[in-house]
Amino acid sequence: MLSLISPAKINLFLRILRRRPDGYHELASLFQAIDLHDILQIEVSDRDLLTCSDRSLPVDHTNLVSKAVHLFRSKTGISKKFVIHLQKNIPQQAGLGGGSSNAATTLWALNALCGNAKTAKELATWGAEIGSDVSFFLSQGTAYCTGRGEILREVAPLEHTSLWIVKPEKGLSTPLVYGKLNASQLKQRDPEEALSAFLSGTPRYFNDLEHPAFEVMPELAALKQKLFDGEFTDVLMSGSGSSFFCIGNGTLPDLPGCSTFKTEFVRRQPDGWYNRVK
Ligand code: C5P
Repeated sequence: MLSLISPAKINLFLRILRRRPDGYHELASLFQAIDLHDILQIEVSDRDLLTCSDRSLPVDHTNLVSKAVHLFRSKTGISKKFVIHLQKNIPQQAGLGGGSSNAATTLWALNALCGNAKTAKELATWGAEIGSDVSFFLSQGTAYCTGRGEILREVAPLEHTSLWIVKPEKGLSTPLVYGKLNASQLKQRDPEEALSAFLSGTPRYFNDLEHPAFEVMPELAALKQKLFDGEFTDVLMSGSGSSFFCIGNGTLPDLPGCSTFKTEFVRRQPDGWYNRVK
C-alpha cells in the first residue's frame, strides 16, 4: 500500500490576462506548494473503491480522485483496480487546490504502482484534462503557470517561508468568482516582472481575483484588513478564495468561525513525491 501526502498550494501572485473564447481565463501565476496536506492511501485490489474521511465530499465518479483513476486507465490501457482512502485536511472552496492536488497525487501513485512507466511531465499533461491546477502539483513545488494554469515553467526554490492559512467558514465557488471579473479593468501588471521580483528576493504579492471575490463575499475585505492589523508583512487571498495566507512575523487576531493552519513551503524531489516537512 502506498501512503502519500497531497499538498495544498497558494498563488504568490495571480494575474488574469484575458477571458478566452472557451470561457476559461488566460492567467500568469506563481504557484507554491505548502505543507498543509491531505493523505492518500492507495493499493491495487480486485475492485475499485474510494472512501473519504470527509462525509460531505462525494466519492462517486465526480470526485477528482475517481476522474484521475479513469484518466490513468484510459491513457495507459492498464485495467488494474484500486482501493483508495482519502484523509481530508485541506479546506474546500478555499483556493488551495485540494481537489486538484488529490488528482495529481492519484496519478503519481497509480504510475508508481504500475511500474513508473510515465514521467511526471506526461502525468502533468494528462492531468490538465481534469482540472487547470492539476498539472502544477506534478511540478517540483514552485512553478510559474500560464495558459489556463496548465502550462508550467519550473522555478528554482524560493527562500524557505512559513505562513498562516486562514479559511473563513464560508467557501467560494471558482466559476462564480471568475464570473464577477472584468479582465479589461485590471491593473496591467507585467507577470514576467513580478516573477523576476520574486526570484531576486523582492516579492510583490497580488491577486487579480481578490476584487471579484470581495464582491461575491463582502466580509472578506474586512477579514483581510483584520489580518493586516496583525502586523504581517503580506496578507493575500489564495486563488479564487476564500482563504488568505499571511506572511511575516505577525500575530493572528481572534478569528471567530475561521480555521487557521500554520504551515510552510514544501517541494518535491526530482525523482520522488512530496514529503511532509515535519
Ligand atoms: O479547470 P477547473 O475545472 O479547475 O476550472 C473550474 C472553473 O474555473 C472553470 O469552469 C472556469 O469557470 C474557471 N476557470 C477559468 N479560468 C481558468 C481556470 C478556471 O475561468 N484559467
